[in-house]
Amino acid sequence: MKIFVTGGTGYIGSHTCVELLNAGYEIVVIDNFSNSKPEVIEKIKEITEKDFKFYEGDVCDKELLKKIFTENNIDAVIHFAGYKAVGESVSKPLKYYRNNIDSTLTLLETMNEFNCKKLVFSSSATVYGKPKSLPIKEDFDLSTTNPYGSTKLMIEDILRDLYISDNEWSIAILRYFNPIGAHKSGLIGENPNDIPNNLMPYIVKVANKELECLNVFGNDYDTHDGTGVRDYIHVVDLSLGHIKAIEYILNSKGIDEYNLGTGNGYSVLDLVKTFMKVNDVEVKYKITDRRPGDIDACYADASKAQEILGWKAKLGIEDMCRDAYNFIKKNK
Ligand code: NAD
Ligand code: UD1
Repeated sequence: MKIFVTGGTGYIGSHTCVELLNAGYEIVVIDNFSNSKPEVIEKIKEITEKDFKFYEGDVCDKELLKKIFTENNIDAVIHFAGYKAVGESVSKPLKYYRNNIDSTLTLLETMNEFNCKKLVFSSSATVYGKPKSLPIKEDFDLSTTNPYGSTKLMIEDILRDLYISDNEWSIAILRYFNPIGAHKSGLIGENPNDIPNNLMPYIVKVANKELECLNVFGNDYDTHDGTGVRDYIHVVDLSLGHIKAIEYILNSKGIDEYNLGTGNGYSVLDLVKTFMKVNDVEVKYKITDRRPGDIDACYADASKAQEILGWKAKLGIEDMCRDAYNFIKKNK
């Protein structure tokens, strides 16, 4: 079976390429390196001791996609490629709508032309907006608060419309909660060049003395210690969810949405304290104002993915903290 992976050198894509190769799939990968580096290709090969075909280019490039589908007999696609920074999407909405929507439409049109109708799409828990209750189930109301989130919700709607028009499609929409951690080899992981927006990359840089102090955004939330609660999931567990989703769509038709989370909520301070303990390192922090737009708490009911896809996250918060730091130490 041959799987086409868009955005395959990115954070989640690279880990999923490793698990696809480990599971015996052939992969064909595209990335334009807008948010990743070419050396990731060699790292994936080193971890798996397997080879694969890579195309450098843009998923919005229709001619390139046609060439890839002509040269390779693709059975299914996992579509990771897209921009993901919430703050930047507010200041540069057109950049986000253009890239995220255009790449998806170009991909879907090409898949249609080549009669390849099996797709796994990277959505996000951001499509739940401010959830009415917890844990979050897939049938909760959907809404968004920023252009990034809106691109995810629009793409979900496009996929649902596509399926209504043609029941031959088989589509799994995966709504990720908060992926953190890294492959245990320390060869691949998340290492943003700029000052990170997300919590774990920031903690790691403070521990590594690249940044001085973590700002904890608010301690007056309605949570057990007042700091924001999220459902952190190890990126390797998340990647294994994609393998289960691929197995499922290869043998079925339809469209469905799945939460990929652990079902456990941890606060900012839970994460900071666990990180310090398992890595025996100090992370300086101070309490600051709330970040606009943040919600008190967000965690998944992940039972649907378990029942239908046969997937459940296995790794704990300690593994996530240890592996995130191991990656950064090895890639100083
Ligand atoms: P990432 O930025 O590390 O990976 C995305 C990859 O896609 C990058 O390598 C980038 O170079 C590439 N890319 C972007 N636009 C492209 C284009 N037009 N053509 C070719 N390549 C392109 O992000 P990630 O964390 O691995 O996320 C993967 C997907 O999962 C994204 O769609 C993201 O929105 C979604 N997601 C991520 C998170 C998260 O916290 N990381 C949470 C929910 C959803
Ligand atoms: C963010 C995105 C969301 C995306 C998700 C996963 C925003 C507003 N939302 O969500 O769309 O799907 O990442 O990529 O960016 N925190 C601090 N200090 C920091 C950074 C974060 O205290 O320096 C706190 C936040 O207030 C929050 C928690 O840590 O309570 C997690 O933050 P973050 O990692 O940015 O993820 P989300 O806010 O869940």
